Amino acid sequence: MNVPLASAAPWWRPDSGHRLAIRGGRPLNGTYPISGAKNAVLPLMVSALLTPHLVTLRNVPATLDVAVLAALLQRLGCEMHWSTGSDGLSVTICADRVEARQIDPGLVTRMRASVLLLGALLARSGEAVLPMPGGDAIGLRGIDFHVAGLRAMGATVEIEGGVIHATAPGGLRGADILLPQPSVGATENLLLAAVGADGTTTIRNAAREPEIADLAQCLRAMGAAIKGIGTHRLTVRGGSALKGAVHGVLPDRIEFATMACAAAFTDGMLVLPNGRMDLLGVAATTFEAAGVDLYDTGDGAIARRSKSGLTGVDFVTGPYPGFATDMQAPTMALLTLATGVSAVDETIFEQRFRHVDELRKMGADIAIHGRTARIRGVRRLNGASVTCTDVRAAAALVLAGLGASGETVLDGLDHLDRGYDGMAEKLAACGADITRQ
Ligand code: EPU
Repeated sequence: MNVPLASAAPWWRPDSGHRLAIRGGRPLNGTYPISGAKNAVLPLMVSALLTPHLVTLRNVPATLDVAVLAALLQRLGCEMHWSTGSDGLSVTICADRVEARQIDPGLVTRMRASVLLLGALLARSGEAVLPMPGGDAIGLRGIDFHVAGLRAMGATVEIEGGVIHATAPGGLRGADILLPQPSVGATENLLLAAVGADGTTTIRNAAREPEIADLAQCLRAMGAAIKGIGTHRLTVRGGSALKGAVHGVLPDRIEFATMACAAAFTDGMLVLPNGRMDLLGVAATTFEAAGVDLYDTGDGAIARRSKSGLTGVDFVTGPYPGFATDMQAPTMALLTLATGVSAVDETIFEQRFRHVDELRKMGADIAIHGRTARIRGVRRLNGASVTCTDVRAAAALVLAGLGASGETVLDGLDHLDRGYDGMAEKLAACGADITRQ
């Protein structure tokens, strides 16, 4: 019995057109509200599995990934109540009855974040059976760090025929875990598991992305004892019963960066309520050097092109506070029209240049040498038919289309919908000529 997305997430509109047509060349001017973060809301929704009490999340982005995860949780037995108010979309999740085996394989393989069910279900019921997770095809994306950490906590984990079987009949126990690399997903998974484990868990070389701190703050509000939030060393004293919580999802720093680039790229000016400049990390300096002017307004930011124009810059992606890999593709779109040559090194994922071929169709001058892309700025881009290959590639192509002459038609819109809340509508409200067909 599959749970349809429409039942789990009634706000989701699946039939709003599979292609996006953009007539470029109009500057963006207006207000583009920044939504809750895609990569924060998913682990937050999963955290509701750790308690039989109600967890309410506010400022939830209305994205396809949220709808898919809602369907997965509903299938597991969670009840979900959605509402819309001054804090945007909210969901209240009640997980007092959970059937750990009721996993929908079709939904799991649609998103990477479903791997987080492993840690949460093990903590909750001592058992988890799920297919290998899906998500963007941007690299190998192993789960060996997740599995090693859960095994250190006493779980038996076997992977056979693409299915993960994990059990911890006597419960998980605290452990000292050193991550080989600061993986975002592994840190979140082990944090969720550690909260339900008996004793103290230390996660060293933990990822420090703001979305992890957001998860940890919510778990704390639920009664978890977590120290070292925002650092490379998280210490969790687990095992105590958790209560419910009400938590506002952190604003999306990637959507913010994408739209800051869009304002500068189209030579317009965007007011970006909830845009958090303090979460940009080193990207703040890169944007400034590239000609993206940002002003803090206290409750958000204003973005526009600097008077000196767009200038080529070099950057290297890295774990937070390094330049976020999720900002790489939209920033590359910006640099296609910058003067001079830019060099972009992608160090997180092996296949995160799939937008380059599509940008080239539009006239961009980009050469790839291994993990480095060299972008020579051109005078203009031309509209073309292009295909979105992952969520950030999709954002890069929207930007390129907004700044190009003529019409750009994007297909593969599921990718855009997975991560961006109402992007086409929000852009249209800022003067873009953009329609779903
Ligand atoms: N890795 C392993 N083994 C593991 C885990 C990770 O080898 O067990 C490797 C990965 O293959 C990758 C690197 O470690 O080369 C970093 O991966 P990480 O685990 O940090 O990434 P993730 O948890 O799979 C999350 C975001 C991504 C974002 C990355 C990096 C979610 C749902 N996804 O992925 O978001 O790019 O962290 O910041 O939070 C996106 O939003 O477009 C997106 C892909």
